[in-house]
Amino acid sequence: MQFSNVLINWYLQNKRNLPWRETKNPYYIWLSEIILQQTRVAQGLPYYETFLIEFPNVKVLANANEEQVLKLWQGLGYYSRARNLHFTAKYVTSELNGEFPKDYKGLLKLRGIGEYTAAAIASFSYNEPVAVLDGNVFRVLSRYFGVDLDISQPKTKIEFQKLAQSLLPVNNAAEFNQAIMEFGALQCVPKSPNCYDCIFNTSCYALQKNEVSNLPFKSKKTKVTKRFLNYLILQDSNKKIIVEKRVGKGIWRNLFQFPLIEEFEEKSSDTSMELIKAFRFNDIKPIEILMLNENYIKHKLSHQDLHIRFFKLSFNGELKGAESIEKIKEYPFPIVLHNFIETNFL
Ligand code: ADE
Repeated sequence: MQFSNVLINWYLQNKRNLPWRETKNPYYIWLSEIILQQTRVAQGLPYYETFLIEFPNVKVLANANEEQVLKLWQGLGYYSRARNLHFTAKYVTSELNGEFPKDYKGLLKLRGIGEYTAAAIASFSYNEPVAVLDGNVFRVLSRYFGVDLDISQPKTKIEFQKLAQSLLPVNNAAEFNQAIMEFGALQCVPKSPNCYDCIFNTSCYALQKNEVSNLPFKSKKTKVTKRFLNYLILQDSNKKIIVEKRVGKGIWRNLFQFPLIEEFEEKSSDTSMELIKAFRFNDIKPIEILMLNENYIKHKLSHQDLHIRFFKLSFNGELKGAESIEKIKEYPFPIVLHNFIETNFL
């Protein structure tokens, strides 16, 4: 247990004071863990605080409408987290009398709660001895113990889970789990960690063997697709604008957008302009078309590189369904569109 004791001591001396560490309330912990998936603490913290002000408990969250939840989530990305959060709040409220399940197995049944999140809530709220496994834990364990299994393989997870579980002090699950994640976040960082000033600098396998930059080993790199999006700002003579809610599948489901014409490869601005000239809204032709940016605005998501052009199309008279800017600003948008609205329609 040497590793775990040293790690926990390090944690007690170096941990950040974070609000979700001051509580055992499963609602607070669930909320923080969902926000912190794929999100750095500095970015997630203000969202956590705003959510707790707006939705102080699971019932209030359940009674909110989805648009409100997505609006507060705006900018955090991975919007399925917010949709699942809301779904689960409704489920816990209506089916479980507002009480979260009291153990790992029960938590795992809830939508949006996978193995990591169930282990986090179970250990932090109930001190159940289940080890968490996230990117930080993979990194710390693979380096310290010299595990060079490919972390893109699902079966590797089982090995790491066993290792983490074997290190977990049964009576101190919460602190150990927090400690290993904090150590990965602050000390054993992905790039250029400061190994010479590290509590494990005489026992870490990777440091002794000069393998720090090779561990953890991951064979599959994330595949990133390029997308070319032309958004149309359709404005009528009352300065009202058309927005629509995205339906179907996809990362932006139930968020709002301007009418979109997608192209499937890079196009010159002239070629895109020709395409937009053929656009009609309910058979009505615009009286003027302006391309607002010739060069693509680039926006990176985890799996997509977006290339965006905005066009303003002005119409005579009223457009059916067009809405005022004040109204539009209440809707949840992907952050690139939100930023566009904020800079263009102050
Ligand atoms: N990242 C994910 N969960 C976390 C937690 N509980 N504290 C700090 N960072 C985290």
